[in-house]
Amino acid sequence: MKILVTGGAGYIGSHTCVELLQEGYDVAVLDNLSNSSKESLIRVEKITKKSLAFFHADLLDTAAVTQIFSRFRPDAVIHFAGLKAVGESVTMPLTYFHNNITGTLNLLSVMAQSGPKNIVFSSSATVYGDPASLPITEDFPLSAANPYGRTKLMIEEILTDLFHADPEWNIALLRYFNPMGAHASGLIGEDPQGIPNNLVPFISRVAIGSLDRLQVFGNDYDTPDGTGVRDFIHVTDLACGHIKTLPKLFSNPGIVTYNLGTGRGYSVLEMVEGFQRACGCSIPYDIVPRRPGDIAACWADPTKAKKELGWEAVKTLDDMCKDTWNWQKNNPQGYAA
Ligand code: UD1
Repeated sequence: MKILVTGGAGYIGSHTCVELLQEGYDVAVLDNLSNSSKESLIRVEKITKKSLAFFHADLLDTAAVTQIFSRFRPDAVIHFAGLKAVGESVTMPLTYFHNNITGTLNLLSVMAQSGPKNIVFSSSATVYGDPASLPITEDFPLSAANPYGRTKLMIEEILTDLFHADPEWNIALLRYFNPMGAHASGLIGEDPQGIPNNLVPFISRVAIGSLDRLQVFGNDYDTPDGTGVRDFIHVTDLACGHIKTLPKLFSNPGIVTYNLGTGRGYSVLEMVEGFQRACGCSIPYDIVPRRPGDIAACWADPTKAKKELGWEAVKTLDDMCKDTWNWQKNNPQGYAA
């Protein structure tokens, strides 16, 4: 079975490529390397001792995408490619809509013409907006709080309309909670450019000494310690969720949606403590005002994925912190070095 992975050089994409190769799939990656590095794929090959095909191309280039499909002839596509910085999406909405939406439309047009009509889409828990209760099940109301989130929601809607127009499509919408951690080898991990926006990469830069102090955005939320609570999930567990989704996709399910989360939340301060245990150093922090747009708490009900895919997250908070730190200390400059 041949799987085309768009955005396969990125954080979640590269970890998914490892699991795909280890599972015996033929893998090709299509990536424009705008926010990722080819080095990640070299390391994927090193971890798995298997090779994959790499196409340096942009989904906005329909001719290139068409050519890749006629050369590789995938049986399914896992679609990760897209811009993902919330703050940047607020200041550059047109860039986000053009890249994420038009890129996806191009991909889907090529797939509609040449096949396959099988796609796994990398969605996000951000489509639940500020949930009215917890834990979140897949049938909760959907909304978007920023252009990044809106692109995820719009693509889910586009895929739903596509399935209604042509029931030959098989579509899995995977809503990720908060991915963290790195491959246990320490060879691949998250490598954000510039100052990280997200909690875990920020903490790990403080631990390595390239940033001074963490800012904790608010300790006055209605949560046990007042700081934000999230469902952090190990990126390898998340990658395995894709492996479990593929047989489902090939069983002609139509359109299906799954939460990929652990089902439990940890607060910002619990994450700081977990990371301190992993790195054996202290993470200095200041409490600062809330970050606009943040919600108090968010965690998944992952029952549906367990029941229908036979998937569940198995890694603990300490595994996640240990693997994040292992990657960070072995690669203080990320892939750049
Ligand atoms: C963020 C995005 C979300 C996206 C997800 C991808 C925002 C508002 N939301 O989720 O749309 O799908 O990343 O992984 O950016 N925190 C601090 N200090 C920091 C950074 C974060 O205290 O320097 C806190 C936040 O207030 C939050 C928690 O840590 O309570 C997690 O934040 P983050 O890692 O940015 O993830 P989300 O906001 O949940």
